[in-house]
Amino acid sequence: MDRDTEIALCKTLLHYVDTGTTALADAPWENSVDAFTSPERLALEQQALFRDYPILMGISAEWAEPGQYRTDGLSGLPILVARGNDGVLRAFLNVCRHRGAKVADGCGATRLFRCPYHAWTYDLTGQLRGVPAEAAFANFRESRSSLVALPLCERYGLVWVVPRPAPDGATTFDIDRWLGGLGPELASYRIDTYHLYDRRLVPEKANWKILVDTFLEGYHIGFLHKESLGSILYGNVSHFEAFGSNARVILPRKKLARLREQPEDQWSLMRNTAIVYLLFPNTLLVPQGDHIEIQRIFPVDGRVDRAVMETGFYVPKPPTTDEEKLHWEKNFDLLVKVVSNEDFPIGRGIQLGVGSGAQSHVVYGQVEPGMIHYHQGLRRALGLPVDARLPAAVG
Ligand code: FES
Ligand SMILES: [Fe+2]
Repeated sequence: MDRDTEIALCKTLLHYVDTGTTALADAPWENSVDAFTSPERLALEQQALFRDYPILMGISAEWAEPGQYRTDGLSGLPILVARGNDGVLRAFLNVCRHRGAKVADGCGATRLFRCPYHAWTYDLTGQLRGVPAEAAFANFRESRSSLVALPLCERYGLVWVVPRPAPDGATTFDIDRWLGGLGPELASYRIDTYHLYDRRLVPEKANWKILVDTFLEGYHIGFLHKESLGSILYGNVSHFEAFGSNARVILPRKKLARLREQPEDQWSLMRNTAIVYLLFPNTLLVPQGDHIEIQRIFPVDGRVDRAVMETGFYVPKPPTTDEEKLHWEKNFDLLVKVVSNEDFPIGRGIQLGVGSGAQSHVVYGQVEPGMIHYHQGLRRALGLPVDARLPAAVG
């Protein structure tokens, strides 16, 4: 984030705190509960969002050296990402060209991928290198000489993959076309210098979007998180800005007040707020005071009421002492605890609520601009109309 923007945001947030105000959407908006309960809607999302939108796979450091690879099936497709000896990061469908087994599992470092079933081997560029008893497979090599490549973009220290193979076979794409101008701001966090500390999977019995919603508004902080975060963050104060379908939501920490005693040139937005970037459609990137958290959220098993959040915790340098480890462990635990003990049980209840027939719509108030932006953006991305329904019309 450039310095002028940072100072301006600090001033706006101080103003909100002083006046008891917050960023407001133009009007409230109602969202059909079908968004969370309809199998047809989920099928549409899986095709449109989890096939054709870039999905964040991780940060560059997870593939720091040539030969390093990771597999990832959370989008519903088996994906393999590997760094070649030429330093280029590539993505493939993790599908053997023989009979479709996964050629790699988990993560690690290798020179060749060897399919566990019949030992066909592939190099780091996906090229088929070895076929036992190849004479028995006459003429197949012309049509299937390598793993199927997926478009990948590595930029700003982040790695995105489009899970559907490009019709023209393209192996790269330009993520800036999707970021709505957020690129330079993401670059400013120097995520390319961060390291993975740990990641955890948190499964939940709720629609995947309900888990995303958890991070998009500060309206609930002073109530649901009164005991856990109430002393750390202001309730119902946030700044909101849209970047295409993406967004930035900033929640001020109570220590923001200390900026008043500091000269402006020492002001730090990151150290005095929680900044949440919604990277449409399913990722939250959260620079915290001294680390970065990334939540990736996916539907599970084709069910409207099952989801998983993968939470990744990234640090400026790998911990070397027990003290450093304890510090990060405590931070990571707090994040997972608040989300799993406070936010997600509410989400589980919402899933029952939206499916109960109690009401046809839920409503997002003007104090929840991130919610309105996200859910309207989803409807647009799916080719659905974005109707305005006034709250008075609720049946
Ligand atoms: S399925 Fe991979 S070698 Fe047979
Ligand atoms: Fe929350």
